[in-house]
Amino acid sequence: TRRDKDDLRCPVVCILGHVDTGKTKLLDKIRRTNVQDREAGGITQQIGATYIPADAIRDRTKRLQDTEPFDIKVPGLLVIDTPGHESFNNLRSRGSGLCDIGILVVDIMHGLEPQTIESLNLLKMRKTPFVVALNKVDRLYSWKEDPEAPIRDSFAQQNKDVKREFKERMDKANLTFAENGMNTALYYENPDVRSYLNVVPTSAHTGEGIPDMLQILCKLTQERMHEKLMYVDEVQCTVLEVKMVEGLGTTIDVILINGVLREGMTVVLTGLNGPVVTTIRALVTPQPMRELRVKSAYVHHKEIRAAQGIKIVAPNLETVIAGTQMYVQTPEDDLDELKDEVNTE
Ligand code: GTP
Ligand code: MG
Ligand code: NA
Repeated sequence: TRRDKDDLRCPVVCILGHVDTGKTKLLDKIRRTNVQDREAGGITQQIGATYIPADAIRDRTKRLQDTEPFDIKVPGLLVIDTPGHESFNNLRSRGSGLCDIGILVVDIMHGLEPQTIESLNLLKMRKTPFVVALNKVDRLYSWKEDPEAPIRDSFAQQNKDVKREFKERMDKANLTFAENGMNTALYYENPDVRSYLNVVPTSAHTGEGIPDMLQILCKLTQERMHEKLMYVDEVQCTVLEVKMVEGLGTTIDVILINGVLREGMTVVLTGLNGPVVTTIRALVTPQPMRELRVKSAYVHHKEIRAAQGIKIVAPNLETVIAGTQMYVQTPEDDLDELKDEVNTE
C-alpha cells in the first residue's frame, strides 16, 4: 500500500473514566450540544462517536493560539464516548481497544474511583498513550470562571485559597496515580512526556481547559504518532453497536479506522450463527460535531474515507456481533477465504 507522510487520518480518541466524571459533558461543551441532558438517568449506556473537524478545533483553541501558536496537521479528531457505569466494562474495553489515544477523566472533587482505575488498566494493558482531564475545577470553592479560557489564564485569576485547594487535590491525585504505577504532572509543567502523564485541569460547565485539552491531543498525536496515523487504503473497521433504527431497519455503527467504504460493497461480518455476507445499502453519518448514537438528520455518502464513525444500512445485520471486525471483499478476495477469516476471529 502507498503511504504519504502528509496524508494523515483522524486520530481516534477514547474518553474513559468513572461514572459521572463529566465525559459526555466535556464532549457536549466542545460540540455545543446537550446530549447528556437527554440521557436516561444522566447515565451513558452506549458507545458513541463524534467527528471534530480541524476547523472546529482551530475555533475552540483560538485564545490559546495567541500564547501557544501551533499548526493543526491532523484532519480532525474522532472522539469515542464510553459509559462509566461499572456494568459497561465491555464497552470501555471496546472503546479503548480501537483508539489511538485516551482521555482519562477524573472528577477533581472525588479523585480516582474504581472505574478510573479499571480504565487506566485497560489503557496500560494496550500501551495506549493517554491524557488525564482533571475535571470539574469550577467546583473548587470560590472559583472565578472565565468561560472557555485556557487553563493558565483561569488560574491567574483565582485567589490564593482556590490555588491552595487545587494544589492539595492535584497532589492527592498525583499520589493515587503513583500508587497505580503512573507518574503524572500538570501538562505545562511536565518535565518529560515519556515518563509523566499529562494532566489537564478542565471544566465541562465553563469550558475552561478545553482549549488546552484539544491542543494537547493534536500535538501528541501529530508529533508522536505520525507513523501510525499515516492513512492506508486497506480497510480496518470495527463494529461499535448493532441497532434498530426506525425507517432504516437494523443498522450497525462502525468506526472506520483506515480505508474507504462505498455503497454497494460486499462486506463480511461476524454473526451469532456464523459469517454474515451482505451488501452496503447506505452509508450515513451525523453532521460533524454531532453524536453518532443520537438520531439526527443523517448525511448520506456514496463513499467515505477513514477515520470516521459511520452508520451502515444493509440487509441481514440482525445477528452481527458488536466489537468484531468488518471485512470488505476486494476484487482479489475470495469470499470463502474471507468467511474463514471471520470464523477464526
Ligand atoms: P457516564 O457516561 O454516565 O459515566 O457519566 P459522564 O462521565 O459522561 O458524566 P456526565 O457528562 O453525565 O456528567 C455527570 C454530571 O456531572 C452531570 O450532572 C454534569 O452536569 C456534571 N458535570 C460534568 N462536568 C462537570 C464540570 O466540569 N463541572 C461541574 N460543576 N459539573 C460537571
Ligand atoms: Mg457519559
Ligand atoms: Na453520567
